[in-house]
This record gives sequence, structure tokens and C-alpha cells, in this order.
Amino acid sequence: MKAPVSRLSASLEIDGRRVEVELFPRTHLSLGVRLPPTTSFPVGTTFSRLVVPQPGGEVTLTRTQLAVAPTADEPGGLVFLDDVYDCDALLNEGRAKNLLGFLSELPLVLGLRDQIGPEFRAWVADLNYDLTVYKKFFDQQDRLFQLEPPEVAHAAQQALLAHARRDFFGYLDGTLARLSELVHSFTPEEHERHGYYFRQQLWPFIMGSAFMRRTNLKPRGYAGDAVMMDMIYDDAFEGEWVFNKLLHKHPIEHPGAQAVRNRRVKVPELLHEVRVARAGGLKVLSVACGPARELDDVFRTQADCRAVSITLLDQDEEALHAAQATVKRVEAKLGASIDARLVNQSVRTLLRDAELPSRLGRFGFIYTMGMFDYLTPPVARAVLERLYALLEPGGVIVVGNYHVSNASRYYMAYWLDWILYYRTEGEMLEMAGRLGDARASVSFDDSRCQMFLRVEKPA
Ligand SMILES: C[S@@+](CC[C@H](N)C(=O)[O-])C[C@H]1O[C@@H](n2cnc3c(N)ncnc32)[C@H](O)[C@@H]1O
Repeated sequence: MKAPVSRLSASLEIDGRRVEVELFPRTHLSLGVRLPPTTSFPVGTTFSRLVVPQPGGEVTLTRTQLAVAPTADEPGGLVFLDDVYDCDALLNEGRAKNLLGFLSELPLVLGLRDQIGPEFRAWVADLNYDLTVYKKFFDQQDRLFQLEPPEVAHAAQQALLAHARRDFFGYLDGTLARLSELVHSFTPEEHERHGYYFRQQLWPFIMGSAFMRRTNLKPRGYAGDAVMMDMIYDDAFEGEWVFNKLLHKHPIEHPGAQAVRNRRVKVPELLHEVRVARAGGLKVLSVACGPARELDDVFRTQADCRAVSITLLDQDEEALHAAQATVKRVEAKLGASIDARLVNQSVRTLLRDAELPSRLGRFGFIYTMGMFDYLTPPVARAVLERLYALLEPGGVIVVGNYHVSNASRYYMAYWLDWILYYRTEGEMLEMAGRLGDARASVSFDDSRCQMFLRVEKPA
């Protein structure tokens, strides 16, 4: 990374003449300035331009004002009057990045509304109205409960939740069925446009659900981080008020999320089948491990801890912290230590790593859940080939991927802004078709949302 710039020569223009100055970091939106000792500009002096020489030519910024006078020890402060400049970008990258530039994008974004069909608009408007009414009625009750002692408020809220849930979840399911009718034949561009329009309209409701807020804001840069996965595994109400609790819980109960809980159980079952068939110890690699909540079923007894060693790989440090916490929790539960190794790496760099087998070792069982859905077909194929090279003879790889007919597909895309690469059985088998002698098969979880590609290397 480039070191931050500590000072920069520049000139300020005033009344047709140039004053040579030095600029310093001050705040994100203002600059520190040192003026020549021969000049005495009072606070409030306005300069018509600030010109910064750069290797590619001069960078010119609009009107600026001396807002804080320089002292013998400290530079003065320059603020901008007509534009809002990113002063870090100026000092470190030598470019005038005007933060008001977004104004020019507004007409484009507002114009997007004209490309939304009347049926979809009417559906969104009705949904907006209905949710406003539901929220108003639920919130009224919550306000009443707040006046009660905690145990009374708690009991009353539980009663409301139980009743409201039946009706409200049924209502939401109906709106999702209608969404599916409206969008199932859309092109990817149409989905993107309508999804954006939908989320702009429903934003306040989305922000009221802890789960949807996180999937939309993506604080780790992607949907499906360890915190979201934990929310799915915990499958609990979150939030203070009934309306928010319900909007958090509904997507977490949907088939797409149930598929996550199903695979958490299914993959350890497959792992133990392989362990029994191969006899002896089993070296396991979990690729894109996330919080690794399946370890509860991988290590069920002290004997499992002696027989199985595991390498947990993920690109996200926070995911690995969560995985580490799972390992410690399972160790405490069983009173035994687990041979676990954490590897902070992306599978994309694995592709370029010639030393991989000698560094990671070879494995009898490799599994990856919730990652292939993020990989384009060429990358997915290349990653599978790489994982196959890490497999011992007689070993098995299990790859989870959502099926094209995932019942939560449009819920995830429109409400959660969670976009995946969906695949068919044929596409999964085709990925394995390049592995030469491998034996491949595909199975489903009970929700039928999730597929498992099983690849076995001949002994
Ligand atoms: C949807 S979560 C699944 C986590 C876990 N396997 C589970 O099922 O609970 C996706 C995980 O994949 C990881 N991931 C995504 N792309 C990756 C990549 N290119 N290399 C390594 N990890 C990746 C993310 O950091 C995240 O922890």
C-alpha cells in the first residue's frame, strides 16, 4: 500500500496572482495549509482556485477559504465553498474527487422508475401499504406492553407473537408467491433493476429486520458472512418489537435457510460414512468453513476427536474467529482436544499456489458448503480440479450448491439482495466430468433447495 502523503506543494490563486503554499492532511473534507511568511491573509480570505501540480498535469480545485489561521506550530485550515472534495484522495492519489458527483447520477437512478412495469409497481405499492398497517397495529400493542412490568410485557409479547406470526407469515408467503409469478421470466438485467426498485421502496422495513439489514448492508463485503450464518443456525427471534422480530424470523424459516440447517447435518453424516468405509483416521478439509457449526456433528465423541483431524479454510478472518470459537466450544463439551488447523486464504489464491499439496497436505474428505454458489462456472471448475488434487486415493469431496429451483430464490434476490450462481444437476456433474477417473453423483437435501455433488477418487 502507498504510504500516506505528509505534505504537498500547491498554489492558491487570488486576484489574478498565485501564492505558493504547502498542503497537509487535516480532515477528510478540509486541508491543512502553510502560507509564505511574507503574506498575511486573514481568516475568511477566499481564493478563486487551488492548483496542485501532479506528474500527469495540474489538478485544479474550485473556490476555497481560509477557515482557520495558521500558527507557528500548526498549519491553517482550508475549506471548499463550491464543492465537497475528498482531501485524502487529493493528497494520496493526486486526484480531485468531488463528492457532489453523485448528484449527476441521480437523474439516472430516478429514471429507473420508468422501466418498472405497472403490475410490479402496483404489487410493491400494495405490499408497502400492507406492511405499514401491520407495523402500525403491532407497534401499538408493543407500546402498551412497555407500560407493564417486564414479566407482564414479556408474556404479552409472546402471546402476540404466537398469534401474529400465523397470520403475518401466511401473508408474506402469499406476497412471495405473487413475486415469483411476476418475475420468474425476467432476464438478469430485469431482476437487477426490479430488485433495486423493490429495495428502495421497502428499505425502512428491510432495515427493521436484523437478518435482512445485515444481508443488505453486507458489513464484511458479501452476503453469507459468519454472523448471518449463525443467525440462520440459531433460528431465533431477534429484535425488540414484534414487527421486527417477525421480519427477522420469516426469511430464516424459509426453505433456503432450512437448506443451510439441513446441510449442516447432512455433511457430517457423509463424513462419518467415509470414515467408517476407510477405517483408521480421517484428515478433513473444510473449504469456506464460515462458523463451522457442523463440527458439533463431526466431533460427537472423544473417539471422533482422536480419529478426525480438520483443516478449516476461509478467506474471512472473522469467519475463522467464529470457527475457532466453535472448535473451543465443542472441545469443552466433549472434554477432549480437537486437531484443528485454521487457514486464512481464498480459494482464488489456491488456484495459483503451486506448493499447495505440500503446504496443506492431502485429505480423505473435503467438503465445501455455501461457496460454489458464489463462483462463476470456470472458477468453480478450476477450484474443483484443485481440490481433487488434494484428495487421497479413496477419498471423497462433497460440494454443496443451491439448485436452480430453490424455493427462496426470489426472496433472497429481492428482499435480501443475496445473489447466487444456481446450478442444475447436469451442471454439477459436468463440473466433475473433467476429473478423469472420478466417480460423481448428485443428491438433494430434504428441502430440495440444495444439491450435493459427491466426487470419489478411486483407491
Ligand atoms: C455462506 S458462508 C458458508 C459458511 C459455512 N460453510 C456454512 O455452511 O455455514 C460462505 C463462506 O464462504 C467464504 N468464502 C467465500 N468465498 C470464498 C473464497 N473465494 N475463498 C475462501 N472462502 C470463501 C466466506 O468468507 C464465508 O465464510
